[in-house]
Amino acid sequence: MMPSPTDPTIPAPSAQAPDSAGFRAAMRELAAGVTIITAGRDGGRRGLTATAVCSVSADPPTLLVCINRSAEGHAAIRESGAFCVNVIAAEHQCLAERFAGRDGARGAERFEHGEWRSLATGAPVLADAVAAFDCQVIQAIDAGTHTVFLGAVTATTVSPQRAALLYRAGAFAPAN
Ligand SMILES: Cc1cc2nc3c(=O)[nH]c(=O)nc-3n(C[C@H](O)[C@H](O)[C@H](O)COP(=O)(O)O)c2cc1C
Repeated sequence: MMPSPTDPTIPAPSAQAPDSAGFRAAMRELAAGVTIITAGRDGGRRGLTATAVCSVSADPPTLLVCINRSAEGHAAIRESGAFCVNVIAAEHQCLAERFAGRDGARGAERFEHGEWRSLATGAPVLADAVAAFDCQVIQAIDAGTHTVFLGAVTATTVSPQRAALLYRAGAFAPAN
């Protein structure tokens, strides 16, 4: 049932000034699937944990990712012109933390755990990802601290029997 606009059990939302703290506090409530976005090959492999991933178009298959320009993976995407979005399973939360820089591992060292392969572009693909989208960069748009990369999807993998990993309010949780 839709709540009535005057329902006294629902606290009135508090208006926030549109500064970055208020924006972050509101965005924390947006539950998102967790991915590891990768680029580069061999010793040049780089990757980061990311939730800013969005489908753009199914025909032709296109998605976008938003990558902080300070992230190691940003230069790797720019230089290789490609990236892979690996949708992470709940059992791989440790990989999500690693690629967010939480265990101190940097650069290609982050790929020491997990089984990594490649598809069409050569970007690293996690063998047991819930799904993976191998992409060729078709456009890069600077936006604030980030670059929005649009990717033409050149190959996919999918293992829907695995529970995906979600992130909300600063915490990881399994999707089911
Ligand atoms: C759940 C989660 C989601 C994140 N989403 C993004 C994202 O969409 N884009 C981004 O640039 N960084 C994102 N980050 C931050 C990067 O994973 C983190 O800054 C990482 O360390 C990249 O910097 P580095 O590779 O230079 O260490 C996210 C981190 C976490 C924990």
